[in-house]
Amino acid sequence: MTDDERFSMLHGFMPIPIGPYANPELQAKWPKDVIFGAGYVAGVPRLGIPSQRATDASLGVTNPFGIRKGDTATALPAGLAIGATFNPDLAFAGAKLVASEARAKGFNVLLGGGINLVRDPRNGRNFEYISEDPLLSGVMGAAAVRGAQSAGVVSTVKHFSLNSNETNRHTWNAEIDDEAHRESDLLAFQIAIERGRPGSVMCAYNIVNGEKACGNDHLINTVLKRDWRYKGWVMSDWGAVSGADFAIKGLDQQAGEQLDKQIWFDAPLKAKLADGSLSRERLSDMVRRILRSMKASGLVDAAPAPAVDMDAHAQIARQVAQQGIVLLKNDGNALPLAANVASVAVIGRNAHVGVLSGGGSSQGLPPRGWAASVPVGGGEGSIGAWRIERWFAGAPLAALKEALPKAHVGFDPGLYPQDAAALAARSDVVIVFVSKYEAEGFDSPDLSLPGGQDAIIEATVAANPNTIVVLETGNPVAMPWLAKVKAVVAAWYPGQEGAAAIADVLTGKVNPSGRLPVSFPATTETLPRPTIPSYGTPEHTHVTVRMNEGSDVGYRWNARQGIKPLFSFGHGLSYTSFTAQKLKTDGTEASLTVRNTGDRAGATVAQLYLVSRNGQAMRRLVGFQRVELAPGTEKVIEMTIEPRLLADWNGAGWTIAKGDYRFALGESAEALSTPVTVSLKERVWQD
Ligand code: BGC
Repeated sequence: MTDDERFSMLHGFMPIPIGPYANPELQAKWPKDVIFGAGYVAGVPRLGIPSQRATDASLGVTNPFGIRKGDTATALPAGLAIGATFNPDLAFAGAKLVASEARAKGFNVLLGGGINLVRDPRNGRNFEYISEDPLLSGVMGAAAVRGAQSAGVVSTVKHFSLNSNETNRHTWNAEIDDEAHRESDLLAFQIAIERGRPGSVMCAYNIVNGEKACGNDHLINTVLKRDWRYKGWVMSDWGAVSGADFAIKGLDQQAGEQLDKQIWFDAPLKAKLADGSLSRERLSDMVRRILRSMKASGLVDAAPAPAVDMDAHAQIARQVAQQGIVLLKNDGNALPLAANVASVAVIGRNAHVGVLSGGGSSQGLPPRGWAASVPVGGGEGSIGAWRIERWFAGAPLAALKEALPKAHVGFDPGLYPQDAAALAARSDVVIVFVSKYEAEGFDSPDLSLPGGQDAIIEATVAANPNTIVVLETGNPVAMPWLAKVKAVVAAWYPGQEGAAAIADVLTGKVNPSGRLPVSFPATTETLPRPTIPSYGTPEHTHVTVRMNEGSDVGYRWNARQGIKPLFSFGHGLSYTSFTAQKLKTDGTEASLTVRNTGDRAGATVAQLYLVSRNGQAMRRLVGFQRVELAPGTEKVIEMTIEPRLLADWNGAGWTIAKGDYRFALGESAEALSTPVTVSLKERVWQD
């Protein structure tokens, strides 16, 4: 391999007509196998090395700006919905679906695997992520990577690390102690990487402890490559590189190069090789890492892509939505709707149009197109123009009419409280659909539902207490009306089959089994950062943000501070009832018996928490398993406890301190059974 061939593999561009490529003459010079999409890195035909053709992402193959005219792809529900299934098999199936569609379109790198922990419930990209918990995000993320790579593409995990807010994402300096970082976000990545073996890790936009994540020697060279012995390659996020020296700090490839000030990994990096600051060994290492992953995922000598079955994929999208929907509240068994209900009021903006999607680079073009697209705008932000509220075709109103053919189903768009109340008053049951749009590049200032939607619910429930609220949101939201309504369903952004899945759950065709992958705070006052640092300042304002919650993210923070959330991590109701009993554990393995004590088939998620260590209270999910049970049946479940969740990072490895560890089963991180105490010996190990 010549040096020019080597360097050609170390950088790539975004093959869409933006930046210099808005110029058709430059575009005409693109290699023949370029596909419009997120990324392209030239191959070395002389040596049989194919090009890398990358597409976003975890929720479906994207089509930025609709550039590949009419090229649609299955659109899955939000990452949080996938997290809420607590079902790694479904995460695998969903990612495999996306990757096989990607491959059929000619792509061979999938920029999926959003592993960042939900540290702030106002983060605009949480809907792309899985959860606030390192075990859940790690295990589900690993399953997704395995699923994607089983379809013969390279999968990433991203954004390494602490890309937990979108506010000033390029200039946000997250400050965290190494120990806290290793025990939280890094642990999620570590589990996803060792169990999933992604070909590539995408580093983040933000700064971590003073160094840009993509040029962060500690994160990339020390943690990822030395301590975790990661063999794949590190690619940059698009526009995250600010110097050729990032290669020395561990970055292997500059992606989306036209978004950076320079193509650093070409001439400037060649100059570093010439002056000796980039060693020849490191250059080979960069290329070897890329080639190794390409080979491992079958990119070299790839067979033609198998045909995809879009109907089967739509069924998987529906299954993810069904299992990801969380029934938060259900007073007096308001749900499921009675089969003989005479009149139903459907209220809410766009409930007659479709279901909401999150915005940004993860958004695809679904097979049935968009039912509505509303440009939201975005002030001065560089991706404000990208902020378009889009609604998947398939309306909840139509789905409910279909599911309840004997009922009269009325509709009010939820513009005026008085109109909504009038319809509510003359209906047996009221279902209010509320939504909150989130998108890459933006955080929300608070947890409120925008556009007066709370007032619509208040007016509705005053007119008819038999009111059910369905949330289509990419984050937890505040619910000032919670005590008054009968039932609340969190449907997240439910994807292209979302309307049907919501109707399935509301009518009882599907028994809800989703569990919250994030805590719903009662107020922003109790968050580690009650307001988002630097929110509202011009883009690229520098801000240093101390992660004062450390590794106690989400429910762990609540437990540590004695905070009562609105709904806890792990919470979720069913139309049947379960018991989880007979916990036995030696601190390594655990077994328990789960029983369906009700009269319907259903699924629950057995959750095992560490609740104290040598008398010190704590709360950590150490094992989980989703289990489906016929009524009146039970099952013994075995779990392996992730030892790093019992341990502390000691600076060079992990230590489980000698002493008493108490474990409890949880219906959520808050509703715990009587603990079982286990005495453990000291254990020290490296990774
Ligand atoms: C996002 C990445 C994405 C990349 C390529 C960036 O803006 O942060 O998640 O993979 O664009 O589209």
